[in-house]
Amino acid sequence: MTKHSSSPSGNRAVFSTRFAAVATTVGSAVGLGNIWRFPYEAGVHGGGAFLICYLAFVMLIGVPVLCAEFCMGRATRSNIVGAYSRLKAGKPGLFAGLLGVVSSLLILSFYSVVAGWTVEYSLASLTGALDFSAADPMGHDRFAVLTGGWRSTLWTLLFLGCNFAIMLGGVTKGIERMSNVLMPVLFLLLILFCVNSFTLSGWRQGVAFIFSPDFSKVNPSMLLGAMGQAFFSLSLGLGGMMTYASYFSKTTRLARTAVTTAVLDSAVAILAGVIIFPAVFTFNLSPEAGPTLVFEVLPYVFSQLPAGRMWATLFFILLFLASLTSTVSMSEIAIAYFSEERRMSRRKATLTCALIAGAGALLCALSFGPAAGFKVCGMTMFNLFDYVASNISLPLGGFICSVFVGWKLRSPFLNRYLQPVTPLTRAYTGYLGFCMRWVCPTAIFLIFLNSIGIL
Ligand code: PHE
Repeated sequence: MTKHSSSPSGNRAVFSTRFAAVATTVGSAVGLGNIWRFPYEAGVHGGGAFLICYLAFVMLIGVPVLCAEFCMGRATRSNIVGAYSRLKAGKPGLFAGLLGVVSSLLILSFYSVVAGWTVEYSLASLTGALDFSAADPMGHDRFAVLTGGWRSTLWTLLFLGCNFAIMLGGVTKGIERMSNVLMPVLFLLLILFCVNSFTLSGWRQGVAFIFSPDFSKVNPSMLLGAMGQAFFSLSLGLGGMMTYASYFSKTTRLARTAVTTAVLDSAVAILAGVIIFPAVFTFNLSPEAGPTLVFEVLPYVFSQLPAGRMWATLFFILLFLASLTSTVSMSEIAIAYFSEERRMSRRKATLTCALIAGAGALLCALSFGPAAGFKVCGMTMFNLFDYVASNISLPLGGFICSVFVGWKLRSPFLNRYLQPVTPLTRAYTGYLGFCMRWVCPTAIFLIFLNSIGIL
């Protein structure tokens, strides 16, 4: 990005090139959501059927809401609360805006815990503390040994500190540049590990688990989970993409950027699934292990590779960087709000967000240590934050956004900012408008009703 200003009327930052805009957007989308959250949610909800529902939600809800957010960001060049207020969205807009800011801080809280695990695993792989020698029967404990007690908390807070130091130092540009180079490397590594999956004895079962849908597994909680995953993975519903689009230059093509983001993001999630599930079945683990699944399974994957320790170190460092490009975008939502709407200096806004997220992260991290027994609605703080943000707040934010853009601003707004020129792009814009008006609100509404047992 170039140029910064905390004033809404001043010169806002602009991404220097079209590639930088796309790469940063993909950088926000691709992260732990794909590699950690997707396999665990798919595992809990039965595999193939979850994947199909998730992909359907990406196409029918994800891409249209992404475009709606992009258009609002470009039209107002503002943070989420400012964007709704400039477009005269009234109270629902204010609600959606504040919900987005709160959600971003909630997500940052639990996301930092998992990102902290990536730091722990990188170091443990490097120093040899993570044992890749064989699939030993103690394997199940590797995760607990590494992250148990206060260790998880320490790494969480360190990660968060690192994230906010970057925001404070204004070096996000450097992080983005680095990730533009390193993310393709992560992608290649994932492909390599995928190929390795086919050498495992349980590959048939693993691949069948993730690709052959068993539709008897479709139920309200699975649909809610798949929808939440689509929102989470595409960084949607909380104004992250809106804030980023407000930094796009005029030449960035919004509709195309949305499709590129969705395709790359889904591809990474599918690759992660193909890496994890064959190993799950080969080593007799449970696909339903929940949030710790990937961190329990990956050491087994690396144990199969020649020079496993080196691959593991490289992989976890890249995963750490991928998390950082996502947390940078999450933090920007709240920082842009505090600095532009509450008129704080960027420094004060950053520190405020750091304090709030730090408190939340502490609660989430302790869920894996001393506060594991503390539950609300049957969920630890970590699970609760994840559930509320991903399955409720983000889809609700997406609902308001799509209704507002689809029904209040309507086609002229979309045509103006999506600039369809050929018959094909005009048809595509028509499809997006249709989804925003009908498909997204109806689907989100029905899934909400369904999951609370009304339907
Ligand atoms: N999409 C990111 C991921 O998949 C997470 C994220 C959510 C980032 C919301 C920004 C906002 O890891």
